[in-house]
This record gives sequence, C-alpha cells and structure tokens, in this order.
Amino acid sequence: MLDYLDPEVKLVLDIGKYTLEAGGKRIRPMLMMEVCRMFKGNCESILPLAVGIEYIHTASLLHDDVVDGALTRRGKPSANLIFGNQAVVLGGDYFYAKALWLYAVYGNLKAVELVSRAVMHMSQSQILELSSIGKIISEEEYFKIIDGKTGALFSASMGVGALMAGSPFYEDFYKIGLKVGRAFQLIDDALDYVGSEDRLGKPAGNDLKEGKCTYPLISVIDQLDEEWVLERFGKERREELRQKVIELGGVENTKRRAWQEIEQAIEYISKFENSSNLVELLESVVKRDY
Ligand code: IPE
Ligand code: IPE
Ligand code: MG
Ligand code: MG
Ligand code: MG
Repeated sequence: MLDYLDPEVKLVLDIGKYTLEAGGKRIRPMLMMEVCRMFKGNCESILPLAVGIEYIHTASLLHDDVVDGALTRRGKPSANLIFGNQAVVLGGDYFYAKALWLYAVYGNLKAVELVSRAVMHMSQSQILELSSIGKIISEEEYFKIIDGKTGALFSASMGVGALMAGSPFYEDFYKIGLKVGRAFQLIDDALDYVGSEDRLGKPAGNDLKEGKCTYPLISVIDQLDEEWVLERFGKERREELRQKVIELGGVENTKRRAWQEIEQAIEYISKFENSSNLVELLESVVKRDY
C-alpha cells in the first residue's frame, strides 16, 4: 500500500504512513480478493485495485475523523490530531485521487464506474448523517445513512472482485455488498455501546456522546419515554441511556439484525462453487469484537 502511494510531497507520505502503518482490519480488500478468487480470477492482477479500495476507505476515515472530531483511531492519536485538520483533509483528497488513478490504470471503465458510484453514495450519506445529529431518527432513515456511509464501499469491493474475475454477476455482488456493509456497520454501532477501547482502537460510547442515533437505541425506542431519552441523548447523563438501551436488549437486537443481513448474503453466495472461504469471511464480519 505504501509503494503505490508514491507522493512527491513528504507531508502526504507522512500522513499516509502514519495511517496505513497503524493497521486496520483490511476487510474491504480481503472481500474483493476473495470474491475474485471464488470466480477463479487472477488475484495478483487486481492487487492495485484492492489497494485502491483501501485508499478510498483510508480517505473516508481521514475525513470522518475531522468531521467527527475524533481523537483516536486504530489505537493511536487520530491523524487530525497529529497533522491538523487542514493537512488531513487535503491528504484524504490525495488518497481518493490515487485510488481512482489506480482504477483507471489497472482496472477498466466499469470498475471506475463502480467505485465512483460508491463514493458518491458514501459522501452523500455522510452528509445525511451530519444533518441527523442530535435527532432521534427512524429505522428507515438509519438504514439510508448506513447503506451509503458503509454499505456502498463494501458493494464496490465485492462488485469489483466479481467484475475483474469476468463474472457476469458483478451487479448482484454490488447489491450483496450492501447487506454485508449493513451488517458491518450494525456491529460497529453495537460495539460502540459495549465494545472495549483496547480492542476497538477507538473509544466506545462516542455515538451517544455525539448525538448519533443508531440501531441499538432505535430498536428499543418504543419502550422509552421520549422526554427521558432527550434529556440524556448527546448530553452529560448519556451513560444512563446507554445502560437502559443495553438492559432492554438493544445490543442483542442489533447483533440479530446484523446476522439476518449476513445470512441473506451467505444464502446468495452459497449458490456458487468454491464459496466456503467467502462465507467464512462474511461470518467474521458479525462475529468480531473489534
Ligand atoms: C471503520 O471501518 C469505519 C466504519 C465503516 C465503521 P473499519 O472498522 O473497517 O476500520 P479499520 O480499517 O479496521 O480501522
Ligand atoms: C464511518 O462511520 C463511515 C465512513 C468513514 C464513511 P463512523 O463515524 O461510525 O466510523 P467510526 O466509528 O468513526 O470508525
Ligand atoms: Mg467516526
Ligand atoms: Mg462518522
Ligand atoms: Mg462508529
């Protein structure tokens, strides 16, 4: 990933190194490679595209941490804290552009279209989320937000994997990716309620602090008094709300919903030969505790 980055300006490399060397799960490139492998594609030749999808993810995290005012990422102080918001926003732009460049050089026009489609969807949903902050939103609005902010990039990962292996089912894989991304974000939101900062590499409890209404709360909202919620949501007394949501089963509901999404994806994928590794990878999306 560092090799392909290749910027002329040292600060861009510093930001890139700092962020990439901190690690991350690399789930998106893994999905792309595994879908390609399942369809007997040439995995080596799509390596730059797998790198590119992780660059897009990296760009989105750099920007996300500026937008969310995050202080920690991947167990280290977030890049915005080290390099400042301005450099990080511009560095994120470099990552986006480099990714598209890789898709143009090593992919094809359809691959460029799939990733661009995903980034358009992602950026719009990040904005939708921004305007939902501090509000109690419906389940429908929640899924609209997470399908874009997280689902779309999973879609592109799986769609490009199929496309580059020559499969005619790449649009189906794009659609299935949305379910996988949904499951992934549902677990991210569950872990924000009950995960440990040590494992996550980012603080838990951030969503309630920021006034973000996610599935654990949405799934139990009917059992709560609205005024009681609003006195705690995004406020000092949010810990009481967190405890209540957990007690009412909000985290369990979220995990169950994530499994439902993954099971639908697995049901579709199991129709293909050679799918057992991919199925295992999909299960790991919901089994994770980090
Ligand atoms: C974090 O993504 C942002 C979300 C979509 C929840 P990851 O959880 O994949 O982040 P890393 O790459 O493993 O750090
Ligand atoms: C991140 O969502 C989604 C994108 C980066 C597009 P979050 O804001 O929930 O991610 P974390 O929790 O900071 O990793
Ligand atoms: Mg964030
Ligand atoms: Mg965010
Ligand atoms: Mg989160």
